[in-house]
Order: sequence, then C-alpha cells, then structure tokens
Amino acid sequence: MSSSLLTRRTVLAGLTASAVVGYPRRSHAQPLPKVVVTKDPSCGCCSGWADHIRGAGFPVEIKETSEINRLKVRLGVPQELASCHTAEVGGYVIEGHVPADAIKRLLAEKPQAKGLAVPGMPVGSPGMEVEGTAPDTYEVVLFGPRGPTTFARYQGLRAL
Ligand code: CU
Ligand code: CU
Repeated sequence: MSSSLLTRRTVLAGLTASAVVGYPRRSHAQPLPKVVVTKDPSCGCCSGWADHIRGAGFPVEIKETSEINRLKVRLGVPQELASCHTAEVGGYVIEGHVPADAIKRLLAEKPQAKGLAVPGMPVGSPGMEVEGTAPDTYEVVLFGPRGPTTFARYQGLRAL
C-alpha cells in the first residue's frame, strides 16, 4: 500500500515537473495568423516582403492577380496610401512594405481600423533593400473610418 502510494507520488511529481517545463514554452509560441498576400505576378519586391513576413514567423499564402487595384478598392485602401501588394491578416488589411513588427503590434493592440499601409515603396523597407543605399525614414500609417494616423516611424527595419 505504502509502496504503491510512493510510486504514484513519484509519477505525479514527474508529470508536474514536465508540465511546468512545457507550459511556458507553449504559451509563448502562440501561432501567428496567416498572412494572405495578393501581388502582381511580375512584382519581385512583393516576394521579398513575403519572405520577410515568413521570416518573422507568419504563415504566408500568396495569390497572384494582374488586377490588384480591384482588390485595393474592395478592401478600402485609400488611393493615396497605395503601394504594390495588398495583404490580409487577422481581419486587417496590410498595404505595401509594412514591417512584420508593426503587424505584430497591430494584432496585439487591435485598434479600430482597417489596417496599416506603407505608401509607395520606400527604399530600405522590408523587401525594398537596395545594396549600398541608406534606408529611407518612412511612416507606417493606420487607416480606417477615423482617417489616416501615424502608427509608427521606421528607418529600414528599425522602429524610431
Ligand atoms: Cu513593392
Ligand atoms: Cu509588393
């Protein structure tokens, strides 16, 4: 009786120890939502951006269309904020070369907005690196019914 109790205790202690070790790892590794990127088949910098997003841990799905402006209109991307590719993640729209860190912050803070945009194609934004050229300073714009506001400023991949 006492020896079987001891055995059970030992087993429970072992289980508890492995649960304690396993738990924090699982909670930190929350899976990131899939980023669906729509791009023009001829756009190369879009693939560079998709690689950056994948490298940050997001699952990425790529769709190609030669009529991407239709999607931008349908998703409500303001014309003045337009870039090359348009992505969707977690109910938000991501327009252009937005750094992955800014997307993670967006998904954590969940502001009432349509999404984020990096208008145009700033040199040094993810996917737009130009060897030997200093990265531009650029804004990540939060857009939606409340109008565009500055969400973050970056130089290259560095938040300012
Ligand atoms: Cu681009
Ligand atoms: Cu692009």
